[in-house]
Amino acid sequence: MTSPTGHAPEPAPWHIIEVPAVPSTDHPDAWAYHGMSAVERAAETANLGHDDLARPVEQLVSGMLHQEYTRKLRFLAVLDRPDGVAPAADDVVGFAFLALPRTENTHTADVYVVVRPDHRRRGIGTVLADRAEQAAADAGRTTFFSWSLSPREAADGEDALVPATGAGRLPADAAGVRFALGRGYSLEQVERMSRLDLPVDPDRLATFEAEARAQAGDDYRTHTWEGVPEDWHAAYGQLMTRMSTDVPQGALDFGEETWDAERVRVYLAERAASGQRLLTTLVEHVPSGEVAGGTSFLLQDGKPAYVFQEETIVLRSHRGHRLGMLVKAVNLRELAARYPQTERAHTFNAEENAHMLGINVALGYRPSGAEASLQKRL
Ligand SMILES: CC(C)(COP(=O)(O)OP(=O)(O)OC[C@H]1O[C@@H](n2cnc3c(N)ncnc32)[C@H](O)[C@@H]1OP(=O)(O)O)[C@@H](O)C(=O)NCCC(=O)NCCS
Repeated sequence: MTSPTGHAPEPAPWHIIEVPAVPSTDHPDAWAYHGMSAVERAAETANLGHDDLARPVEQLVSGMLHQEYTRKLRFLAVLDRPDGVAPAADDVVGFAFLALPRTENTHTADVYVVVRPDHRRRGIGTVLADRAEQAAADAGRTTFFSWSLSPREAADGEDALVPATGAGRLPADAAGVRFALGRGYSLEQVERMSRLDLPVDPDRLATFEAEARAQAGDDYRTHTWEGVPEDWHAAYGQLMTRMSTDVPQGALDFGEETWDAERVRVYLAERAASGQRLLTTLVEHVPSGEVAGGTSFLLQDGKPAYVFQEETIVLRSHRGHRLGMLVKAVNLRELAARYPQTERAHTFNAEENAHMLGINVALGYRPSGAEASLQKRL
């Protein structure tokens, strides 16, 4: 666009603010949260062609009200307004999220920056990232994690960025990765984003379930709930603890998180306050009473066609009995019965996670994007 004088207009001036928590989405100061949510929607739609994964405003507000295990800071880039004019959601042109774990991994920080597509390459991302990384360093953090989504992996023969793990390839022009590499991050890992069209053919699903049950035998029994009942919180916590150590994570400097029943309770409360529900299938080893594994779908109010395939894990001592396929097939059957309106599931798996990818590919998941896992050590 050019001005009436024929010159390109000056980019609008902007400034950075730090945003405190607000109690609800209709609070007068919640414009900042509506703005962040809109920026994320615009960025994801431009990048992936859909905004399924963009966080609704309820989730952003509720996330800030739950800081029991993670301290959270939010920085916003906001267009300048004349004196006396209050800022509004549309004035938000970028944000930086900073998450500082409180109980473990206290040397680390998650840093995530997004700039509205129509305001990129003007230095806004740099200033936001500088501000968040400075706050992380001030809090004594020395390892920063970040991530960036691309709509696809690099094709054969195309210029590509290859992670330290050697598994997966990203297009060499991926904006978020270029930005992060320029800031001293290294590309550690590539996660495949996959999509499954729903419902899965019920006969195919029944075959997967029957084959898995035949392998698992009578010693294993599945339980499915919406929300995990309280007397299973400790067992669910054991699975989450193992998720923090057993999922392939390349050279990311991330150690075990301890999940007890209270941490599970807080996690589920935060989800509920965000308008999110978990549909969970756990598998119990009947002779010992141990929980052997499990999987969850995350459903989001206001997005009835979409679900997110959350964590899936089988504990080491119970591997080799097809329990991964069993819990996934059961959860898909339950999802189709309870939520017939769901049309698609998205999930992420490390490219080197051959076992989990094998199950997903068999179920019908297809590649739909690629995520870079980035790390910077001071
Ligand atoms: C990554 C992102 C935040 C950059 O925001 P931005 O405001 O455009 O960033 P800046 O203008 O400060 O760019 C700084 C430098 O990053 C690099 N960079 C940014 N976008 C790039 C692109 N599309 N291609 C190549 N390099 C790029 C350049 O070196 C750029 O400097 P230059 O413009 O002088 O060449 C933005 O593209 C975005 O929101 N992407 C989606 C979210 C994401 O992937 N975030 C992860 C990063 S933490």
